[in-house]
Amino acid sequence: MTKQELCQKAVDMLKMAYVPYSRFPVGAALECDDGTVYTGCNIENAGYTPTNCAERTAVFKAVSEGHRKFTRIAVAAATERFTAPCGVCRQVLQEFAPDLEVILVNRDGKTLDLTLRELLPYGFDGSYLEE
Ligand code: THU
Repeated sequence: MTKQELCQKAVDMLKMAYVPYSRFPVGAALECDDGTVYTGCNIENAGYTPTNCAERTAVFKAVSEGHRKFTRIAVAAATERFTAPCGVCRQVLQEFAPDLEVILVNRDGKTLDLTLRELLPYGFDGSYLEE
């Protein structure tokens, strides 16, 4: 899949976002190492804390369907600035894909290519638990 196609899938998920509280839709498209793509949107909750971000929705969908290796994720938001994954999502992404490429898409369709290592330097992972 081309970068543009992956980004379009993230943009298409904006309309699926359940955001009655923030009115801040986010869409994500996560590419697996075999080329399969899982999409996600943010899903909010009146209790606020149970809210799930778009990125984690995509990861949890993929992992629950047997995928654990990911190559790229596109994250779209309707903002002029590039909206980057929150800290919790960075940690969840790192668990499965420390070398993940992260593509941010703004409201104009402009993109910013980053890596998860740039977004989460010195991340905590399972190797620490083995020392
Ligand atoms: N949100 C995401 O889904 N992904 C991000 O990268 C940033 C934040 C959501 C969570 C919440 O539903 C709304 O955006 C406002 O924080």
